[in-house]
Amino acid sequence: MILKQINILAIESSCDDAAAAIVNGKDLLSSIVSTQTIHQQYGGIVPELASRDHQKYIVPIVSQTLSESNLKLADLNAIAYTQGPGLLGSLMVGCCFAKGMALALGIPLISVNHMHAHVLANFIEMQGQPLFPFVCLTVSGGHTQLVYVEDYLNMRLIGETLDDAMGEAFDKVGKMMNLPYPAGPTIDEYAQKGRISHLFTFPDTQVPGLNFSFSGIKTAFMQFLKKNTANDSDFIEKNIYDICASIQNKLVNMAIYKLRCAVQQTKVKAIALAGGVAANSALRKAVTNYAEQKFLHLYMPQKQYCTDNAAMVAIAAHYKFLAKDFQDVHSAVPMPRLEF
Ligand code: KG4
Ligand code: ZN
Repeated sequence: MILKQINILAIESSCDDAAAAIVNGKDLLSSIVSTQTIHQQYGGIVPELASRDHQKYIVPIVSQTLSESNLKLADLNAIAYTQGPGLLGSLMVGCCFAKGMALALGIPLISVNHMHAHVLANFIEMQGQPLFPFVCLTVSGGHTQLVYVEDYLNMRLIGETLDDAMGEAFDKVGKMMNLPYPAGPTIDEYAQKGRISHLFTFPDTQVPGLNFSFSGIKTAFMQFLKKNTANDSDFIEKNIYDICASIQNKLVNMAIYKLRCAVQQTKVKAIALAGGVAANSALRKAVTNYAEQKFLHLYMPQKQYCTDNAAMVAIAAHYKFLAKDFQDVHSAVPMPRLEF
């Protein structure tokens, strides 16, 4: 007898991207992401506007993902949603919607930790088994973490940022140069036009151990701009590509250094990248070179699964479904500060 594969609808609404996806077993049937653009004019995310946008888009994106998957509501076997961490209002929209659907359809509800989902984005459309255990460097707009991954459902934090996240550092230095929010992708693009990646140098601002700190480099960058624009008011405009290449190189080196330390300590044979900043071309290249040098297996999600998406929530839910890890519909609440 051939067992029917389960269909899981997943909803991601932790921040400013409204997303829905459906998996059939491990196979991704469709993945829709609607990125909110309203925040650009404010230079950062406005939580109240984000939750209102989620309310507006949740029904259309769920309908679209169902029709792209050629499924009806009755074909769904479980509903998954991001429980946290994230913005309370945004999480609330996804949580209430998922609870309502699970109740109405009489199917299980699965809650997913957003940071676990980022790690598991590595296995979307992956054939075969990953080499466990591995260390994952998760770098996003709100988090910077080193994670020791024992298997799909067992992972623990071995290092994290004590202040700003790596994506936040990209966005903040970009803001100082008047680049649009979020500045990470623009810095990546401009850096590729830079002449050399270390034309401008910045001080070391690392903390000991496996934790990260990015707030010192942000201050150093502000001083660097202040000093140079005092001598030449067009300094940023004239040097934008080289400045982007240099600061990107510094941020990437800081992250890679900690990844190396984690590999030395844990003696793993495989590493992975995850989170929005994992889409950065210099970081992907640097991690690839490091893995080749040290003969390590390397997992990197496709670029569209690095930034927030619901496919990663769906794949995490697939493994939770297999473990029958369901949530009681009546007691499910969003958890903005959900621990790892
Ligand atoms: O994972 P994500 O979509 O959302 C959070 O959970 O935070 O990450 C968003 C972050 C932003 O800070 C954005 O600037 C950064 O990822 N980002 C990048 C690139 N693409 C996105 N940073 C550097 N280079 C990129 N190509
Ligand atoms: Zn994220």
